[in-house]
Amino acid sequence: MTAAPSKPVASIRWLAAPSSSLWLEQAINRPDEVLIDHAHCERKAAGAALQLMFRYPSSETLAEALSPLAQEELEHFDQVLALLQRRGIALRPLPAPAYGSRLAGEIRRQEPLRQLDSFLVAGLIEARSHERMALLAEHSPDPELRALYGDLLASEARHFGLYWLLCEQHWPREVIIPRLEQLAAVEVEALSGELARPEDVRMHSVGVQLPRKNLDPVAFTPT
Ligand SMILES: [Fe+2]
Ligand SMILES: [Fe+2]
Repeated sequence: MTAAPSKPVASIRWLAAPSSSLWLEQAINRPDEVLIDHAHCERKAAGAALQLMFRYPSSETLAEALSPLAQEELEHFDQVLALLQRRGIALRPLPAPAYGSRLAGEIRRQEPLRQLDSFLVAGLIEARSHERMALLAEHSPDPELRALYGDLLASEARHFGLYWLLCEQHWPREVIIPRLEQLAAVEVEALSGELARPEDVRMHSVGVQLPRKNLDPVAFTPT
C-alpha cells in the first residue's frame, strides 16, 4: 500500500476545495481502475463538447472553441487506450460515481441560463480533472503514469480556461461569479464523504479537504 503525502500540492482557483490526501492514496493504490475510468472521462469530455455544438449549432464562437477541444479529448482517449492495451487491461465498463449526474442536475433548464450553467459545470469538471491529474503526475510511483498525466496536464488547464472564456464572451462577471460560487460549492459537496469500497475509486470519486474560505476565480488567468 502506497501512502500519499500529507498535503497534496496542486491548487486550482476554480475549485472551492482541494482534493484530499486520502483520494490520492486511494487512486495511487488502484491505478488500473483510475486508468480505465480516465479513458471513459476523456470520451465523455469529447461527448460533452460535441453535445454543446449540437445544442447551439449556429454559434460559430462555440464551434471554433469546442471542435478542437472535442478532437483533443479524443486524442487523449487514444493515448489512454493505447496504454491500457500495452498493459493488457480491458476497457471494461465501470460504474460512474454520482459526481457527473449531481452536477448535471444543477444545470437550469431555461435558456440562456442553461448555456451559462453548462459552461460552468464543464469548466469545473475540467478543473477537477486537471487538479487530480497534476497530483498523479507528481505522486504516482509508476513512471509511465507520471509521464502520461504530466503530458495531459497542459491541455486540461487550457480546457477549463476555454470554458471560462466562453462564459465571458456571453455574460458579465457579475453574473458569472456568483453562479460559479454556487456550482463550485455543489462540486465539493458531490466529492464529500467516504469511499465505500477501494475498487470504487475514480478520477471523480469522493475525497476533498475542507472548503476554502475565499473562492477567487477572477485571479485565474487562462492559458
Ligand atoms: Fe482530456
Ligand atoms: Fe479536458
